[in-house]
Amino acid sequence: MTRRSLHPSWREAAMGGASVALAGCATAPSVLRPESAPQHTLATLGWWLIIVGSAVIVIVLAIELVTLRHRGRTVADTPLVASPGSTRGIVVGLAITAVVTLAFFIYSAVVLGATERPRGRPGAKIEIIGHQWWWEARYLGGTPDQAVATANELHIPIGVPVALQVTSADVIHSFWIPQLQGKIDVIPGIRNTFWIRADTAGTFHGQCAEFCGLQHAHMMLTVTAEDARSFQRWLAAQSAPAAAAPPSDTAAAAGGRAFMSSACALCHTVRGTGAHGILGPDLTHVASRHMLGAGAVRNTPGALNAWITDAPSLKPGADMPRIDLTPATMHAIVAYLQTLR
Ligand code: CUA
Repeated sequence: MTRRSLHPSWREAAMGGASVALAGCATAPSVLRPESAPQHTLATLGWWLIIVGSAVIVIVLAIELVTLRHRGRTVADTPLVASPGSTRGIVVGLAITAVVTLAFFIYSAVVLGATERPRGRPGAKIEIIGHQWWWEARYLGGTPDQAVATANELHIPIGVPVALQVTSADVIHSFWIPQLQGKIDVIPGIRNTFWIRADTAGTFHGQCAEFCGLQHAHMMLTVTAEDARSFQRWLAAQSAPAAAAPPSDTAAAAGGRAFMSSACALCHTVRGTGAHGILGPDLTHVASRHMLGAGAVRNTPGALNAWITDAPSLKPGADMPRIDLTPATMHAIVAYLQTLR
């Protein structure tokens, strides 16, 4: 945890809020467009709350208008209880309010019970660790040498629940895939159990939902939901150690050597090599990811070069430091990382 991360200026906070609002418009991962059984249940509750809440506002405003028209011009002219009929109106109003509130309390409790636990065996178990400001995901169940660790881009099988164990490495975050499930707090020192499920194939966007510092708005993740066969193929590819750079690719081979002998290997793991750092994301299959920096930039060779050269200019506050390398070495390291598919 850094001091600056806890004290972003109002301007930075406002810019972050504005950009996520615009990003939200573009991709619109709305809770009211559910793609899973639990989110359908939550969205139905949401619609009922919107409809009944709106009806209550309209009815109350209508009654106020009618009352004002019949009761003189000033509040002082209007007795609080004018007649037995008014008393009856107040009692009926209170009774309706109590019934509506109680009905929604019971309905919410039923929905909470229905979405809390999954039905059926999980198709995958994933440990999710929140960091300032990215998501680490470790697929549980494999042998240590096949431990799949990725960042910000989950893959899950469709039609089955996926069990999550959720914790944080620094401050409190909140894990949220709006179209698949509700939110779960991501708290340091506590391991919350949670589950998600997708009933249709596709890519679903998620976002940290608890203010966690300067780059809270840029702590995104995606969930790719696919059929069981595609998921198993992805998992098998991810569980393999990093392939050595092809001998014909001299730039990539030189880049691999530069990576291992530089600060890169102190912060990042590349399984099957001498890089065992744990501060930053596991890079064993970094080239298979679509984005860098939890949604900061697209994972292209140019962006990767810019990210390694000066990550703080792309994501102010990120722990990834500026790296001072010659252009040739930088080119070689980018070529090496491109081979990590
Ligand atoms: Cu992590 Cu907001």
